[in-house]
Amino acid sequence: MIKILMVCLGNICRSPLAEGILKSKLPRNQFFVDSAGTANYHVGIAPDIRSIAVAKKYGLNISDLSGRQFSVSDFDAFDYIYVMDASNYNNVIALARDEHDLAKVKLIMNELYPNQNHDVPDPYYGGDEGFENVYKMLDDSCSKIAKSLLTN
Ligand code: 4NP
Repeated sequence: MIKILMVCLGNICRSPLAEGILKSKLPRNQFFVDSAGTANYHVGIAPDIRSIAVAKKYGLNISDLSGRQFSVSDFDAFDYIYVMDASNYNNVIALARDEHDLAKVKLIMNELYPNQNHDVPDPYYGGDEGFENVYKMLDDSCSKIAKSLLTN
């Protein structure tokens, strides 16, 4: 089983979408996909209604996901850790114990645009169009990730 973790700040807007999107592109018997937030604000809480709505628009149901906080044990539990933005990256690598942990952490948009360090913008304080934009970015990036994983 290959295990992939999606990480954002709150685990209610971006990373639950990334989790739902990547899950939809990979066979469940070979890949485990989860998500977490670097903060603890929304532990045990369902995704933001705007993330649930944009996922539903594209045929995905993420309403049953529940927020959790990233922890050091995730470095052991997961093979790949995709973060949404530079701030998430800094928060996660601050917990890395060694080079092996560090090497698992990647900015998700770098899969599509290598070395460009694009952020998936935090849509929390904006309008619905921010969620649409995030969905499209994550769908594109997750298509690339799934393709790479399935051809390896
Ligand atoms: P996320 O968005 O990191 O994509 O889940 C946020 C959700 C909540 C907050 C910040 C970002 N917040 O400050 O509560």
